[in-house]
Amino acid sequence: MLAIIGGSGLTQLANLNVIRREVVRTPYGEPSGALTFGQLCEHPVVFLARHGYGHTIPPHRVNYQANLWALKEAAVEIIISVASVGGIRADMCPGTLVVPDQIIDYTWGRKNTFHEGTDEPVVHIDFTEPYDAAVRRRILAAAAAAGEKVFDGAVYAATQGPRLETAAEINRLERDGADVVGMTGMPEAALARELGIPYAAINVVANYAAGRADSSQRICFDSIETALHEAMGRARKVLDHLCSV
Ligand code: HPA
Repeated sequence: MLAIIGGSGLTQLANLNVIRREVVRTPYGEPSGALTFGQLCEHPVVFLARHGYGHTIPPHRVNYQANLWALKEAAVEIIISVASVGGIRADMCPGTLVVPDQIIDYTWGRKNTFHEGTDEPVVHIDFTEPYDAAVRRRILAAAAAAGEKVFDGAVYAATQGPRLETAAEINRLERDGADVVGMTGMPEAALARELGIPYAAINVVANYAAGRADSSQRICFDSIETALHEAMGRARKVLDHLCSV
């Protein structure tokens, strides 16, 4: 079974044929919402809205541990994260779809492991390649089949939020090698790896990162909404194709 974790702009999947919703409790607390089980193009899918179905949970308050644990309990075999990002690189303009291949983690204070290290041997997962290569390939093949242009590979910077970055912070992220910036990619990807669930992401560029649009422009929330809405439609199409093969 495939799990889709939907971020801002994707609190539900229009084409999901919903079969049941399940409220799950985990040793780590409650996930962001009920798991929605259904079929997408006849393929079994479980959907979870990362920020809650009413979009009320900010990135630093998402219970990533509970979300991942709940999906593991639901026996999902792969996870695709859909998350909105700001574009740092000039060609990552609003509306672009990106399948990142690397992460730099700038978040802090989040519960970022299932191995708290109290009564067990120390565990260091390998995270050289933070996204699963086979899942990435499936997304890229689905995008090609759907006729949707996606960027193959990008460095995702995970920031703490919930505020957007300063222009100087974006300059620093760029010097570090980041191409896009978002607030939810970590610890989600690392927790999936700890649980052994292959995980990859579709990033949807909602806006130019701070200071990257026309230099006199601040980030405009209305235009973020519009770009996100349109591009999420294309991300959904990619997911439909991924499920129909
Ligand atoms: N910064 C961080 N996270 C984001 C942004 C951004 O500009 N846009 C969407 N998610």
